[in-house]
Amino acid sequence: MMKTKRILALLLTVVMLCTGSMSVSAATTSAEAWSNYWKTADEEIGAAVMLTPGSDDSERYVSWYSESESGSVVLLDSNGKKLDEFTASANKTHQDDYRLCAVIDSLEDGKTYGYYCKSGDWTSETYTFTTIDGDSFTAMYLTDIHITGEDYHEDGIRDNSYNLNLTLETGLAKARAQGKNIDLLLSAGDQGSDGRRDEYTGLVASPLVRSIPFATTVGNHDKKGADYRYFTHQPNTADMNIRSYVGTDYWFVKGDVLFLIMDSNNTSMTDHRRFVKKAVKANEDVKWRVAMFHHDLYSARIESRESENALLRLMWAPIADEFGIDLCLLGHSHYYTISNVLYNNKTVEATENGGKVTDAEGTVYMVSGSVNRPRDDENVGLSENIGHAYLTQEKIYNLIDFSEDSIVINSYTVESDENIGSLTIEKTTDEGGHNYRTIGRLYYPLVSVIGFIANIFTNIGDAYDNRQQGFKIPFFEGLFG
Ligand SMILES: [Fe+2]
Ligand SMILES: [Fe+2]
Repeated sequence: MMKTKRILALLLTVVMLCTGSMSVSAATTSAEAWSNYWKTADEEIGAAVMLTPGSDDSERYVSWYSESESGSVVLLDSNGKKLDEFTASANKTHQDDYRLCAVIDSLEDGKTYGYYCKSGDWTSETYTFTTIDGDSFTAMYLTDIHITGEDYHEDGIRDNSYNLNLTLETGLAKARAQGKNIDLLLSAGDQGSDGRRDEYTGLVASPLVRSIPFATTVGNHDKKGADYRYFTHQPNTADMNIRSYVGTDYWFVKGDVLFLIMDSNNTSMTDHRRFVKKAVKANEDVKWRVAMFHHDLYSARIESRESENALLRLMWAPIADEFGIDLCLLGHSHYYTISNVLYNNKTVEATENGGKVTDAEGTVYMVSGSVNRPRDDENVGLSENIGHAYLTQEKIYNLIDFSEDSIVINSYTVESDENIGSLTIEKTTDEGGHNYRTIGRLYYPLVSVIGFIANIFTNIGDAYDNRQQGFKIPFFEGLFG
C-alpha cells in the first residue's frame, strides 16, 4: 500500500513538473488516476497538509491534522539534506484531534526547499516549494471553489477536488509555457459549501497545493460550519473586537505587494479599518496594496442581492479609497468581471479588456468565476461600473503577474484554453497605494457603528446555530444560559 502511494505521489509530481513542456490536455492527471490516488493516498489526504504564506517570503506556515498533540516539520535543501526542524503548535479541533501548525522561517530568496511533516507514528510525503527572487512573482487567483459532498470518501468531494486539481495543473502548465512559476495561490472564499472539514480536506488534496503557499479567506458558505477556523493558520491575524466565529483578517507581504485578506462576513467596519490602518503603517514602503475578501461589490446585478450589495459598497469602498487599495480580489457572484477604476463609488477611469491603466486614482475590483459552480443564469445583469465581463460554464483561472512597476492580470478558461480577459495596472511612482483625495464622508463613522452593532447580532445568530457543532464563543455563552 505504502509503495503504491509513493508511486502515485511520484506520478502526480512528475505531471506537475512536466506540464511546461507538454500540451495542457496531455499533461493533466486523468479522472481515473485521480480516483486511484483518492483510494490509495487516504491517510495523506486525510491529514490535509496545507502550505500557507508566512509574514513575508522568508516564512511558510505548514498545518495538518493529527491524533497526536506534538509534531514537527523537517526542512530539506534541494538535495534532500536536512536543514532544520520546526516544532508545531497544537490546536484542538472540535473532532477532538489536533490541527498542528509549524512556522518555517529564515528562508533565503530564490531557493527550492523540501519539507515533510511528522507526528505520532505518521510521516508525510516530501513536498517542495520555491521562494521568489526579487519583487516579481506570479499568483493564481481563484474563487468559489465550492468543494462539497457527503464526506471525502464519497464521489462529490473527490470529483470537486479533481476539478480543482485540473484547474491548478492547467494553470501551472500555462504559467510554465510563459516561462513562469506559480508562487502563490489566492482563493477569495467559499472554498467549501457547508464549512465542513471534509470539504477543506478535499481543498488541499492536490499535491500541488502543498508546494504553493495558499491564501484563503472566509466566504458566506465557509461560515456555515465551524471547521474553517480549525483548518486555517495565518500570519499577522487581526485583533478584532467582535470577530466572526470562523475567520478573521490577516496580512502578508510578498515581493512589493501587501496582501490584506479580510473576512467580509464580519460587518464590524471599525475593526477592519483598524486592521488595514495598522497593516499599512507596518508596511509603508510596500508599493502595491491588494485586498481579498469574499463579497463582491460591483459584479453581477442580481436583483435579490442588490440591497445587500449597496450596503456592502457603503461599508467596504471607503476602506479601499482611504488606504489606496490598488486591486480588490473578490468572489460570491460567480460572475467573471473586472471593474473600471473606482473611487467614492464612481468610475474615475474606464477599463477595457486588454487595456492598461497608469497611476490609477482609484481601485480595480475583480471577481472570478466559480471552479465547481459556474453561473448559468444568463438573465443576470451587470453593475454599471464594470469594464469587462465574461459568462461561461467553464472553469476559470487567473494568472496575475506582480512586479515593481505593474500588476498584469490574464484570465483563461480551463476546457477551451481561451484568454477571456486581461488588464495591466501600472504605477510610475514608488508610493504605496494610490492618491487619496479627501472627500466628504460624514456617513462613514455612522456606517462603522451600524456595522459593528449588526455584527454582534449576526454573531449571536451564528453562534447559536453552531453550538450544535460543539463550537462556543465565550463572549456569547452567557446569553444562551
Ligand atoms: Fe459561492
Ligand atoms: Fe458566496
